[in-house]
Amino acid sequence: MRLLLLLAASLVGLACAKPVKDDGPEKILDLRLEALEGSLLRGTLVNKGKKDIRLFTRSTILDPNPVRKVSILSPKDQPRFIGVRARVSHDNVSDESLILIKRNKPFNFIFDVAHTYDLSKGGAFDIIAEGIIPYAEKKSNDLTGQAAYRSNRLTVHVNGTTAHLAKRALEERATVERDCVGDRALIADTARQACAMVAIAAAQSALTGDANQFVRYFRTADPGIRGTVAARFFAVANECAGNSQHARIFCSDPARLCQSDYISVTLGNSITNCDLYWQFPTVSNTCHGVGQATTTIHEITHVDGVFNPPTDDYQGHYGWPALADLSPEQAIMNADNYGFYANSIYINVGC
Ligand SMILES: *[C@@H]1O[C@H](CO)[C@@H](O)[C@H](O)[C@H]1NC(C)=O
Ligand SMILES: *[C@@H]1O[C@H](CO)[C@@H](O)[C@H](O)[C@H]1NC(C)=O
Repeated sequence: MRLLLLLAASLVGLACAKPVKDDGPEKILDLRLEALEGSLLRGTLVNKGKKDIRLFTRSTILDPNPVRKVSILSPKDQPRFIGVRARVSHDNVSDESLILIKRNKPFNFIFDVAHTYDLSKGGAFDIIAEGIIPYAEKKSNDLTGQAAYRSNRLTVHVNGTTAHLAKRALEERATVERDCVGDRALIADTARQACAMVAIAAAQSALTGDANQFVRYFRTADPGIRGTVAARFFAVANECAGNSQHARIFCSDPARLCQSDYISVTLGNSITNCDLYWQFPTVSNTCHGVGQATTTIHEITHVDGVFNPPTDDYQGHYGWPALADLSPEQAIMNADNYGFYANSIYINVGC
């Protein structure tokens, strides 16, 4: 909850968060998963809380895009994530992003696990869905609460051929033509150059800068961890400077991935900047604010091949200060830790 308010605060240009109560997520959602056919699942969500709420669907299990919705419980042989990673805004969210979930009234939705993981080897997969969904009160668009859920464990039996076709369809969506023209081409170019500059500064700081600053974001001053973070930043800087070319950046949304309240979205090695992205400054001058360059840093850390393994978005550890709760091992794998650390280095006032 703190994170949501802070994001909101940073978007209207305030430097500091108001102190807010932090009760943690409420365990008010019941989620039951069942297999319909192969990897196609139906979820049934029941609001066990005391009131009707409006759940924020973006980048959650309710998102129409194939964002990560379930975990696969096979520690030895984890299938690769092939879905969509969305960076979303929690500020002034639109009605379109919210779904009213009435108290005790089951809400059904369906999704296909083969759209998020490469299941083309086929066979049985054990899955579970666990997470947190921000919500607003019934007549509000302010995300003031967080609802936690944990589903039953379920075994799905997947036809590898069918799963492979689903993967191919996603890959085709990700390989459309380049589209940056006019003003957006110019802004995108500036953001890319700023990305390179800010990422280099962050890399140097990670290596030899203020240790306390580093610890605030990564929870340790271990030289090995500092080296890893620096190496990832250098790789991002190289990518933004055009010295390596793993990522493709889109200015419009030819693959139709953007949803209301998305800032940007990554599928495979394609980064799409959504309409909101263009409203942010090149680099934010406020602590933990959102800017184009640091958003691009965040997205580029997700791209395969830039610096492996690519980062993730830890659910519930999005934005400041939630990202500072991660262990060092998780923090170096969470995209937001890079974006926000880089922003604090750019501002240079000890955020
Ligand atoms: C909130 O969003 C609406 C449209 O979605 C817009 O008209 C309004 O100006 C926004 N308010 C703020 C404070 O950004
Ligand atoms: C998987 O699906 C394909 C095409 O739909 C079908 O030809 C094949 O027999 C199925 N394989 C299994 C193991 O059911």
